[in-house]
Amino acid sequence: PLDRKDIPLNKNWSKRPWTIPTSYPEFVDRALDFKVRYDDIWILGQQKTGTTWMQDMAWLITHNFDFKTSENSHVYERSVNLEYTGVYQPFAGTEAEKKGVSSFAATENMTSPRIIKSHLSPNMLPKELWTKKPKVIYLTRNVKDSAVSLYHMYKGLKYFDGTKEQFLDALMTDSLAYCPYWPHILEFWEMRNESNIFFISYERIKRDLRGSFKEISEFLENPCSDDILDKAVDHLSFQSMKNSKAGQTLQKIMEDIHGTSGEFKFIRRGEIGSHKDELPEGYSEKMDNWSERSLVGSGVAMDDIL
Ligand code: A3P
Repeated sequence: PLDRKDIPLNKNWSKRPWTIPTSYPEFVDRALDFKVRYDDIWILGQQKTGTTWMQDMAWLITHNFDFKTSENSHVYERSVNLEYTGVYQPFAGTEAEKKGVSSFAATENMTSPRIIKSHLSPNMLPKELWTKKPKVIYLTRNVKDSAVSLYHMYKGLKYFDGTKEQFLDALMTDSLAYCPYWPHILEFWEMRNESNIFFISYERIKRDLRGSFKEISEFLENPCSDDILDKAVDHLSFQSMKNSKAGQTLQKIMEDIHGTSGEFKFIRRGEIGSHKDELPEGYSEKMDNWSERSLVGSGVAMDDIL
């Protein structure tokens, strides 16, 4: 359904250091023409919606529930972010880029079944996704929680040095990478009943990790026993991931690229509703109003996606 002319080119992107980079047009072709495989598993969704957690789940389910390897290796050694070096301005000009590290090349060379993560919106994703129809897991999360989580990431990594208010305003005016925020979700919400798409929220997984893992294993056509489910719930808990290599994935990437991960903690709070004690005054209402405005005419209420 996608046409190049539909791509919303935000002319201000290149002026903002933390958004999609100046190399964007070059990158778009590479993403749009990326070769999809029928047995790929794509993990999609906005940032900080639990996508790394899901990458680990999908990897376990498709790799014989190998908890040991999962515990002892970073998620990114097993699953790639398609636009990891391609789209993120923070990587431009870094040692990693100079070394020619390309997430596209890495993804092309992965053995099947590939677990590929991307935060790109539908019109920027590979065209073959819509014809080959591999399995897609789409994640959502309460936008106020994901926004707070993202703020901590950008701040910790020194991608952003403004105030929390400025950061949230940037999100609400479509000035951050992967914005506009809501249309991204709405487009996948529309597709949620397609047989190759599994739409799930961070909140649902958090409330019922066991039931969610079971459903995902069924969706990925590798249902698991009760014994495996017991192990999965323990292995994927916030506490376990805090101490595992998988849980330190993002820190490791930042250290590789920047030589330090700064004050950034990937496994941070892992809670539902952490925005409640973290949003500046008035911002809970401001974000609710913005969300409601963004949803007008869609027939979707904010809570529907959770
Ligand atoms: P917080 O910053 O609110 O703690 P992503 O992988 O898409 O970047 O999402 C990161 C968010 O998922 C972070 O949220 C992180 O703590 C949370 N997360 C990662 N692993 C988790 C787990 N095992 N249980 C609960 N939350 C987890």
